[in-house]
Amino acid sequence: MEKQKFKYSGISSLALHGAGEDFAQSSHLPPIYASSTFTFSNAHQGMQRFSGAEEGYIYSRWGNPTFTVAEDIIAALEVFQVKDENGDDLEVKAMLHASGMAAINNLFQSNLKAGDAILSHFSLYGGVHELMHKVLGQNNIQTIIADLRDLNIAEDVIRKNKNIKLVHLETPANPTIQCVDIEAITQLAKQHNILVSVDNTFATPYLQQPFKYGVNFVFHSTTKFLNGHGTAIGGVLLGKDLEKMNGPVKKTYRILGVNSNPFDAFLLTQGMKTLELRMERHCFNAMKVAEFLNTHSAILKVNYAGLMSHPDHKVAMKQMKHGGGMLSFEMKNGLKASIDFMNKLKMCVRTVSLGTAESILCHPASMTHAGTPKESREKYGITDGLIRMSVGLENAEDILNDLEQALK
Ligand SMILES: Cc1ncc(COP(=O)(O)O)c(C=O)c1O
Repeated sequence: MEKQKFKYSGISSLALHGAGEDFAQSSHLPPIYASSTFTFSNAHQGMQRFSGAEEGYIYSRWGNPTFTVAEDIIAALEVFQVKDENGDDLEVKAMLHASGMAAINNLFQSNLKAGDAILSHFSLYGGVHELMHKVLGQNNIQTIIADLRDLNIAEDVIRKNKNIKLVHLETPANPTIQCVDIEAITQLAKQHNILVSVDNTFATPYLQQPFKYGVNFVFHSTTKFLNGHGTAIGGVLLGKDLEKMNGPVKKTYRILGVNSNPFDAFLLTQGMKTLELRMERHCFNAMKVAEFLNTHSAILKVNYAGLMSHPDHKVAMKQMKHGGGMLSFEMKNGLKASIDFMNKLKMCVRTVSLGTAESILCHPASMTHAGTPKESREKYGITDGLIRMSVGLENAEDILNDLEQALK
């Protein structure tokens, strides 16, 4: 209990000690509550818990103490030193889901109905693009894609489409690393009573805290940098409207069965302990890789938010502490060159996903974005020659040596 009163000066202490309550049986680490259901001391208590009159766990599809530990840490990181409109510490609620896709599906399902529309930036994770266009589209929820880096375009689209109820931003975006001005778009959306959600997967709360700019929801695929070791799939949805989070969002969570599981939640709590340390090294190594690739003769273009040559560098540096651990680059000789390069890698790993301790590379056009139509892909800059790299924690020199030999 003393822990809750302690004022942390940085996010590492918070991630290590910020879970709040002491754990059962004086356990140092959070117990893995592998129980599908929770008992009531008498029938009256069961009644009280179901009616919501008494707080407490009921059934793990609805919530579980190991999820709560992870949820509380993520919520604390996302609002660390963030104030609300009255200057008080901002409070948000986090809900841990089975995957990033489950969390984003809950966000959409609990906030939108047939006839509504979402406005989003082009270049998004392929699965989210497919969810919007294929699944939501069938339910008469339209997605409008526009270049939201241009405020005039954003304003024009909003004025012309009165049914837009949510602006969804992925910044930095997968895999182009384009960045959208969260503050400017949120101000615009507010003038039109539109909700804003931000996918903070690439940045993490270490680099970027979207709640600072008044957004309504923050979302993560926890599979990535938050877990940090590639040991579990997961997603989290955070919201500052506590009534809504405890009302429709919780209701949809429970009905859809999008809950996490105790073991994955535990792995997440352990991974997050080193978030700050890892992110510092990810960013340091990524800058070295970006600088190396930027002058290499086989490379046409490097997309890294930390490079001054990146078109969104100014916006990125306004809302992010550093350039991040993610970058992409385009090979001069397109598909053949990119496949040859991928095949020659000796240390860096060929796989999808990102945010793991190891450097991993993928070919978005044939992998993560294979479900996005070629025409849209190319329009968004996801060309056949594009490689996405999640820069890991190895010694920078080894990463550079591996890339150099693979580019020969
Ligand atoms: C930016 C982003 N958002 C969402 C997702 C979906 O998350 P998950 O794979 O955990 O369902 C991903 C997955 O790659 C992603 O990169």
